[in-house]
Amino acid sequence: MKITVVGTGYVGLVTGTCFAETGNQVTCVDIDVNKVNKLSAGQITIYEPGLEKLFERNLKEGRLNFTTDLEKGISEAKVIFLALPTPPGEDGSADLSYILGVSEKLGPMLKDYKVIVDKSTVPVGTADKVHAAIAKNAKVEFDVVSNPEFLREGVAVEDFMKPDRVVIGTQSEKARKVMGDLYAPFVRQGNPIIYMDEKSAELTKYAANSFLATKISFMNEIAILCEKLGADVDMVRRGIGSDDRIGKRFLFPGIGYGGSCFPKDVQALVKSSQEVSYSFRILDAVMDVNEKQKLFLLPKVNAYFSNNLKGKHFALWGLAFKPNTDDIREAPALYIIDALVNAGATVSVFDPEAMPNVKGVIGDKVAYAENQYATLENADALIIATEWSVFRTPDFDKIGSSLKHKVIFDGRNLFDVAHMQELGFHYESVGRLPAKS
Ligand code: UDX
Repeated sequence: MKITVVGTGYVGLVTGTCFAETGNQVTCVDIDVNKVNKLSAGQITIYEPGLEKLFERNLKEGRLNFTTDLEKGISEAKVIFLALPTPPGEDGSADLSYILGVSEKLGPMLKDYKVIVDKSTVPVGTADKVHAAIAKNAKVEFDVVSNPEFLREGVAVEDFMKPDRVVIGTQSEKARKVMGDLYAPFVRQGNPIIYMDEKSAELTKYAANSFLATKISFMNEIAILCEKLGADVDMVRRGIGSDDRIGKRFLFPGIGYGGSCFPKDVQALVKSSQEVSYSFRILDAVMDVNEKQKLFLLPKVNAYFSNNLKGKHFALWGLAFKPNTDDIREAPALYIIDALVNAGATVSVFDPEAMPNVKGVIGDKVAYAENQYATLENADALIIATEWSVFRTPDFDKIGSSLKHKVIFDGRNLFDVAHMQELGFHYESVGRLPAKS
């Protein structure tokens, strides 16, 4: 099938590449000339494990093309995906100007029947708005479909190629058939394509992310309670997770969720609720808990150093909001850095992928180390903010002998508490009883 993807950001590039991989002819359109030139020349613009190989192969074999020319880009396509940004506006609601802007342009360009697909995360009712924006100047028949993505950064290719489910929101039989054919190769293992109306599809995306965010904030509060009551969150997590109704996944406490999706989507759903005079109280609490959780380690650090961080130097491992990505949007590490620096401390950081992005945002506010051990030089303590695999089994002798104090504040529960105690560390984590120094 011939398809066009408008917007070559994270979602657009993964979508376009994965559709090309299943034999479709894909044209990706973007207004950014530099980006289009780079991509056409075979330079990938995002970091996502496994994507580059597919990208290079499909580009070489001619199934993947890039252009800045929207009209030319869509002329032969049967399906047009809109993978455009929907950043939060000042009031937290999703800004639809990119999507509606392109929709208006599309109207007069359509020469035959096309299916136009909202891939971006958009508030309920957007499909109707897109339909109206295109219809203003369209002379041919078209359908608008809501087809939300559920891609996790770091495993997006796998999520796209083998989705748990595909949600297709449209009331048009014709569009259902086109979309069903397009997605058939991705659900051969029996996972469902769930057909529904547009609004339900739009809400499904927000409900999924908000539910997952709720699960995390809930566990983070249980972790706080564990510390206060002298219980161990790892035990409680395992105890509740083996109930199928709860499930084992997404129950790991930490220093809060970040990234481009959860914070934005929870906020947008709260805003959508307000617009229909409903106050989504659980989600207000989820956001509030998460804001506080990002600084969960700070009172522990302060207590250890007798509330005086002035002149102290910290090693910080992990900057990305989670492992296997260079994404630092809403990353807890940045909040921790801010708090430490404001308290008069200095920080030396290391992250396997995210350092250039952090440098772009906070510049020389911190020192950037060559590797994780180089952060330890002259450091009073080590703080861990992201659970990269390379941090999981470090050389503890090296850490112990480099740090001025043998103390680790771990926001991701990487190490065994008893083991750390044996090694003689003062080790503090989230929701587990601290080891004595
Ligand atoms: C998420 C959704 O999973 C995906 O379906 C959606 O389309 C986009 O948003 P992503 O933002 O890439 O994907 O990250 P994810 O792996 O889901 O993790 C989100 C955040 O939750 C991270 O900050 C992570 O550290 C945190 N998290 C996750 C926890 O704190 N505890 C957990 O048990 C799981």
